[in-house]
Amino acid sequence: MKHRPIGIFDSGLGGLTVVKAIQKELPQERLVYFGDTARIPYGTKSPDTIIRYSRQIIRFLLSHEKVKAVVVACNTSSAWALEAVRKEFKVPILGVIEPGAYAAVEVTRNGRIGVIGTEGTVYSGAYLKEIHRLMPRAKVISKACPLFVPLVEEGKLTGPVAETVVREYLKPLLKEKIDTLLLGCTHYPLLKKTIRKVVGERVKIVDSADETARTLHRNLEAYGVELSGRGSGKYYVSDLSRKFKENAQRFLGRHINRVEKVLIEKY
Ligand code: DGL
Repeated sequence: MKHRPIGIFDSGLGGLTVVKAIQKELPQERLVYFGDTARIPYGTKSPDTIIRYSRQIIRFLLSHEKVKAVVVACNTSSAWALEAVRKEFKVPILGVIEPGAYAAVEVTRNGRIGVIGTEGTVYSGAYLKEIHRLMPRAKVISKACPLFVPLVEEGKLTGPVAETVVREYLKPLLKEKIDTLLLGCTHYPLLKKTIRKVVGERVKIVDSADETARTLHRNLEAYGVELSGRGSGKYYVSDLSRKFKENAQRFLGRHINRVEKVLIEKY
């Protein structure tokens, strides 16, 4: 079992931020990534659709790659589909909401936590519920930031456009005196520099990626961590666009050799 790869998926390339964290935490594991680039964004779609998409991807990862565990790197899928797919599949499935909420609760001092994500994630209330489970006294201020994803996809990570958009969305959270800001979306860590500039040094910025990688490591202890492997990455997408490589390398921070296109509707 332990020699099998770990499957990681997202609505697009944003989940590569989670792959990066897992590669650091578990360097000897074989990782298989699926980015649903043909059907992104998930953030504006209904829960039924997100569950159907997530189910198809997990079926693909299991039948094609025989993965030993699945990481749902997409916040929107984690928010809407995790419960349903956990019931359906025997393989361990880990989402990013629980680790992200845990990381935020660990660092907050005043219990005032800002959560930003896609419309779907914010509307689901998944982070709010998880933070309250861990810290009932917490005051959670959530805000959907729908323009952040296109900003990142366009590579506008810093500069006046990014700054104006970030400032506009985060203003109400700062007014609420948050001391912690949870980045509840795969794309947002790439905007960290601009977010830091807007929120200042006093607000702690937390994202789910590192904590998800640590949780995965702990969970794998029961199933077998790969200790003798050399580590590798295999990448699949549902659409291979012209800008794929440029974008993917921005998220992963390293070179990607081969990417295969999959007809995911078949699964
Ligand atoms: N991956 C999605 C998330 O983390 C963001 C992009 C999308 O809307 O699909 O919620």
